[in-house]
Amino acid sequence: MRGLTSLPSIPLVTGPSPVEELHRLRTALGGGPRLLVKRDDALPFAFGGNKVRKMQLVAADALAGGADTLITSGGIQSNHARVTAAAAARLGLSCVLVANGAAQDHPTANALLDRLLGAQVRHVADRTERAPAVEAAAEELRRAGRHPYVIPIGASTPLGAAAFVSAIEELRQQLPRAPDVIVHSTSSGGTQAGLAAGCVLAAAGTRVVGISADEGSAALERDIRQILGGVPALLGLPDGTFASAAVEVDDRFVGGGYGVPTPESVEAIELLARTEALFLDPTYTAKAMAGLLARLRGGEFRDDETVLFWHTGGQVGLFA
Ligand SMILES: Cc1ncc(COP(=O)(O)O)c(C=O)c1O
Repeated sequence: MRGLTSLPSIPLVTGPSPVEELHRLRTALGGGPRLLVKRDDALPFAFGGNKVRKMQLVAADALAGGADTLITSGGIQSNHARVTAAAAARLGLSCVLVANGAAQDHPTANALLDRLLGAQVRHVADRTERAPAVEAAAEELRRAGRHPYVIPIGASTPLGAAAFVSAIEELRQQLPRAPDVIVHSTSSGGTQAGLAAGCVLAAAGTRVVGISADEGSAALERDIRQILGGVPALLGLPDGTFASAAVEVDDRFVGGGYGVPTPESVEAIELLARTEALFLDPTYTAKAMAGLLARLRGGEFRDDETVLFWHTGGQVGLFA
């Protein structure tokens, strides 16, 4: 493998995110498997989260290509948009965000941070208008002699996913024995593609379960396989290295849709705050934890197994 270390990366964070035991949660559940959490919510850049890992590789690619502006899109409370705006600020680049949803008179949470970070935010009515608005913004900048770099939704490209291959390597250095299962929030699929690829390379038999924040399982599993297909070329591995990787998406906890709370997600937020002082976000990690709690309560895992919840951040969303 040519290796991860040869992929250019901007060091937005320099150390590993912590791994912690969830002792009090385990006790509250009456026992069960060992429970760990990987604290990407505590990555020390711009309120952290999984998008920081992706951005380290994606922003390096933008700089290598001579970009002077980062453009991306998402909902008005997108964590990915906030991290893109933050990376642009850190690197002295301009940032254009195409956000679906009405502009707030008094922006809150991620929308407030986007403004503080100096991003130009263009609002569109719904998701279908995002891609044309991004293309229009890029074209406008090119005509003005600028060099925009467009980051797809969620930075869920093979390059973004490669950041999570590195993250599995980071976890291997932290834990003497790989977890049996990793459970995390999945949406545009890049995180899960990278975790799945990393686990194949680590050959420790870790099962990766993505709990969907919005998409149906079949569509999202297809997207994840597509991203996985592009990862080997980046790492100097043979095509098809990850063709037989297991891709497991659980869409039973989406409830009323993206960002709409469910009784289970509300319970997950309160339980994790009260047992572990850990903050989950309403859109992604609360639903992922609701999925994990249901599996734990259902007795899916043996007591001698280790289950790791990968906290992908987003806690800024609590203040939306
Ligand atoms: C907090 C949080 N968790 C999980 C995800 C899902 O990650 P991915 O888009 O790589 O599937 C996102 C994506 O926006 C996120 O912001």
